[in-house]
Amino acid sequence: MNTSVVGLQWGDEGKGKIVDLLTAEHDVVVRYNGGANAGHSVVVDGVRYALHLIPSGILNPGKLCVIGNGVVVDPEKLVEEINGLRGRGVQVGSNLSISDRAHVVMPYHKEHDAALERVLASRVSEGESDLSIGTTRRGIGPAYADKIHRSTAIRMGELLDHERLLRRLKVICAIRTAELAALGVDSSPLDPFDLAERYAAFGTLLAPHVTDTVYLLHERLRAGSRLLFEGANACLLDIDHGTYPYVTSSNCSTLGVPAGTGVPGRRIDRVLGIMKAYTSRVGAGPFPTEQVNEIGSRIRERGREFGTTTGRPRRCGWLDLVAVRYSAMICGATGLACMLLDVLSGFDELKLCVGYRLPDGSRTDRFLPDAEGLARVEPIYETLPGWREEIVDASDRSALPARAQAYLARIEEFVGAPIDVVSVGPERKQTLVGAGAGD
Ligand code: IMP
Repeated sequence: MNTSVVGLQWGDEGKGKIVDLLTAEHDVVVRYNGGANAGHSVVVDGVRYALHLIPSGILNPGKLCVIGNGVVVDPEKLVEEINGLRGRGVQVGSNLSISDRAHVVMPYHKEHDAALERVLASRVSEGESDLSIGTTRRGIGPAYADKIHRSTAIRMGELLDHERLLRRLKVICAIRTAELAALGVDSSPLDPFDLAERYAAFGTLLAPHVTDTVYLLHERLRAGSRLLFEGANACLLDIDHGTYPYVTSSNCSTLGVPAGTGVPGRRIDRVLGIMKAYTSRVGAGPFPTEQVNEIGSRIRERGREFGTTTGRPRRCGWLDLVAVRYSAMICGATGLACMLLDVLSGFDELKLCVGYRLPDGSRTDRFLPDAEGLARVEPIYETLPGWREEIVDASDRSALPARAQAYLARIEEFVGAPIDVVSVGPERKQTLVGAGAGD
């Protein structure tokens, strides 16, 4: 059985924990999109690991972890991550493979990302709109843009050939220096010799891991290995299907799996959609159920809603079921995992968004993936009674307070998919797997 794990909201749903749990029943864990903008935090035996590029399956010995061709790899961060894991006794060797076709995030991509955001935000003081996206400034957009430009892109395989790298960087650096200057970056010209040397050195360090992962994955499939596809970011940040333009630059929905790995979609047997019991978002963009008040603050504090990658406080609000149902449809979710349910203990009542009121007064139960359209809707809520009890020690779903069970049952009914997993805390043992209350 091959499984795809995907976030159904705007990221940070707790995919890392689920991937870590599911890894036991799979042989290979594969990343297919995104880059070091993603942050998975996984707690194993009380130790918190923050992973950005390496699949969290790396924490389980004996599993092969693959960074697919759809990922954009920042070699500096990757080497840092490998060293950090090794320093804590985690084995990283032949259990990590990186696609030779994955694109490289270079330092000028990160500079470009930050400079563009700065320029866009600064237009506000000139009376213009703020068009900045609120990116993680990890160079993701510029690296994917280069992939599409083709002529100025660098792939992982090229880091293994110093001469070739230098030849290309001589041209690229001249262009990038001019572009950065146009964006107001006042620095010395990019030095192709220095960059080629540093990045070829990363290539040497990473060479044992760099390979044709497409053939590798198909060989493993033929041998009967079970694959687990680990989505980064989340469906509502998908470049085609998310709240454009407030999205990331890859196909982070399940639709990104085939292109980002070379494995056809029909090989995915099960799609587990990961959702929080509420909604959160980092960066700019519409968020109809956002609570900029006591409710939002309480969720943020209880849920420790601060970015794994940037440390930014996350925006928090009620669960938007219209959004979750849309994502479940796009991703073909066969089941759901409802994370962070424990964060909602102690509210008198809980609101679930079950529709949107449009500016003309009409109602829709469809999600609006266009950011401007979504920014204009009013959420229509259903109110459910909350529960007072802390639930972090619950051992199975039937042990949850009746009101928590009713909350989960309403999610299942609205989204039209069963909740296979409920999470009530960061530890592996705080995970309730199996039959829903309605069974
Ligand atoms: P970028 O991916 O750095 O270009 O950022 C684009 C948007 O996606 C910003 O709003 C980011 O905050 C958001 N984003 C990117 N990756 C993640 C993630 O893993 N979790 C949550 N938000 C993310």
